[in-house]
Amino acid sequence: MLVEATTDGPLGTEADTIAVGVFEGDGIAHDAPGGELQSLLDAGEAGRAFRRLAVTHAEGRRWILVGLGAREDFDAERARVVAAIAHGRARELGVQTLCWEVPHHVSDQVVGGLVEGTMLQAYRFERYRSGDRENHRGAQRLLISSHHDVADAVEAAAVVAAAQNGARDLANTPANDLPPAAVAARASEIAGEGHGVIVTTLDEREIREAGMGAFSAVAQGSGHGARLIALRYRGPGAEGPLLALVGKAITFDSGGLSLKQAAKMHEMKFDMCGGAAVIEAIGALARLGAPVEVLGIVGATENLPGPDAVKPGDIVRSLDGTTIEVNNTDAEGRLVLADCITYAIREGAGWIVDIATLTGGVVVALGSAFSGLMSNDDALAERVQASGLAVGERLWRLPLDRDYADMIKGRYADIANVTERREATAITAGEFLHHFAGEVPWAHVDIAGTAYGGRRPYSDKRATGVGVRLLVALAQDLAG
Ligand code: BES
Ligand code: ZN
Ligand code: ZN
Repeated sequence: MLVEATTDGPLGTEADTIAVGVFEGDGIAHDAPGGELQSLLDAGEAGRAFRRLAVTHAEGRRWILVGLGAREDFDAERARVVAAIAHGRARELGVQTLCWEVPHHVSDQVVGGLVEGTMLQAYRFERYRSGDRENHRGAQRLLISSHHDVADAVEAAAVVAAAQNGARDLANTPANDLPPAAVAARASEIAGEGHGVIVTTLDEREIREAGMGAFSAVAQGSGHGARLIALRYRGPGAEGPLLALVGKAITFDSGGLSLKQAAKMHEMKFDMCGGAAVIEAIGALARLGAPVEVLGIVGATENLPGPDAVKPGDIVRSLDGTTIEVNNTDAEGRLVLADCITYAIREGAGWIVDIATLTGGVVVALGSAFSGLMSNDDALAERVQASGLAVGERLWRLPLDRDYADMIKGRYADIANVTERREATAITAGEFLHHFAGEVPWAHVDIAGTAYGGRRPYSDKRATGVGVRLLVALAQDLAG
């Protein structure tokens, strides 16, 4: 989708469809010449309540009038929602070029929300469908019409939303077409754009020989070679501690020998969503030329019960020397992340934020409305939460505590990758990672409930691309 800002009024553009919002207690700021929108309101066909929607025709264009609700409640998230609803209808009506008339006196965040909501709703994953799907493709062009110049806000939002859709493409791609090497190839593709991202990868032998016994243990059950993908980006004028973004990219999680049940196993192609968010967020930061220094570390492997697979009870040694009892091979994400976190620390990380579809426990606790957040640093946790809130990706903090850390003490080795009873699985997974982060300010984001099966008008049932907006906003906040 081509996205542009304009200071022309909608009728001065080539739009075939014009979207206009109306706040409670307000009139229509710029009606169609014949007063058609006011007529829709007068007739009760349109309304000012949030998400109400009506369509009319005037001046040879389609007009969509959307209720925005109360002005004081209208924020970037509500903008995403109304933009998604408007585009959904416009798509059904065969839109090619959509023009949003930006309501008066709204923030740049709201302007960005209109762009994001439209682009995210327009996203489709059709590459595996045969036949002609040309109809109802949705808007090919999006124009954002405003009295004042909103070009920067529009451009930034378009970059971030495109990156989020890129993460959705990676995540929706089935595991047979997305082995770990393909995840690395996507990172290299971003490096090839020439915006300053440098990518280096370790293959499975290098991972093993580097001493990452935890990561290797997961990788050894699959014939597809694992990859540790490192992405570096340093924007102009970046200073301050190095921010490491660590992503779990299990391209398929069968559970290994602790095999998962069949019913939802197919969803485990989504177990690389954390890694996808890291890769695409760094791509977006680079395209934006953001003045930040980030290091992305993505641990990519399958988790399969092949002949060499790690077995329950096996004891492995992580990169930092910790011995780990692998009592459940389905708790593989923390094994991969543990070595990636140590790797990030050795690369000089001053802050670490990891993101992973880590536990079913967080889905039980928070559903799809909030991601889970755990941290050893209150200041960092607050900034992660604030960044998430600002971009409509909410996080709820769960506690870390010695009592939880005690639950993963090993019987034979230093620590175990699961607790003896299934209790507090999201938190004890967090404590497992905490062991490796140690004193380095670190935050862990569990997106198992938010990475797919979204319930927002701008995200369908497939991958949501959660984490991209959060990580972009957080990197910018920490650098600022
Ligand atoms: N990838 C799963 C977590 C997951 C579950 C993601 C549901 C998305 C939806 C992870 O590797 C896993 O299997 N975790 C286990 C850990 C348990 C064995 C302690 C879990 O949460 O059940
Ligand atoms: Zn698992
Ligand atoms: Zn997993």
